[in-house]
Amino acid sequence: MSLYGNKLFTSRLSLAKVTEENLQTIISWSTSEIACGSYLTPEKYSIEQMRMQVKSGVFWSDKEKMFFVETKEDERPIGTAHFWQPTGGTDTIFMALKVAIPEERGKGYGTEIQKFLIMHIFDRISTVKSIEMYTDINNYAQQRCLTKLGFELVESLMYDDQQEKRTGHLYKLTTKQYHSHPIYHFHYE
Ligand SMILES: CC(C)(COP(=O)(O)OP(=O)(O)OC[C@H]1O[C@@H](n2cnc3c(N)ncnc32)[C@H](O)[C@@H]1OP(=O)(O)O)[C@@H](O)C(=O)NCCC(=O)NCCS
Repeated sequence: MSLYGNKLFTSRLSLAKVTEENLQTIISWSTSEIACGSYLTPEKYSIEQMRMQVKSGVFWSDKEKMFFVETKEDERPIGTAHFWQPTGGTDTIFMALKVAIPEERGKGYGTEIQKFLIMHIFDRISTVKSIEMYTDINNYAQQRCLTKLGFELVESLMYDDQQEKRTGHLYKLTTKQYHSHPIYHFHYE
């Protein structure tokens, strides 16, 4: 993994700082049920608000980053990934991601994006003690990703997804689990 300027490279993908150029695509994905799939409620971002947030650096700080994900080979946009530290919290980070093009799902990209984001977070933010993610009870692909990435199921619960109540699971990966899980230490990317 490497971070060159504003890009993080995995074996097949580039995860880049969101720019003005990407906004229209991100906004259209955020209003599309196809792009969000059945288990993520469309965020319906407003372009004006997002433009302001991008300009002011909200999505590119130590506490929060949003990435625009493309294939390295032919720069095909495939989705977004986002992490943030909730206000007031110091040691937990939340993550969310979207492989927005249905044909690009099931190719291992979801696992790859999350693996490299997790490495980026634990290696660069020394105060972080855990990463947590909520997922819909029927989102088996995401649950499979999280299990492969060493997360543990903390509890099953109702959670809010853009004001929509979902039944799901809260998963957690601690620093200790991160440092001991082979997936983060044996790879050839
Ligand atoms: C959930 C999501 C991120 C997974 O990414 P992906 O690129 O499709 O997942 P991967 O290709 O890395 O596959 C992960 C695993 O899930 C399995 N899987 C894929 N679809 C599945 C399904 N419908 N049921 C069960 N397992 C499934 C894969 O076989 C793979 O397991 P394996 O490595 O043991 O074979 C992606 O589908 C997505 O963005 N969906 C829309 C938005 C969303 O739900 N985001 C997550 C919110 S928490």
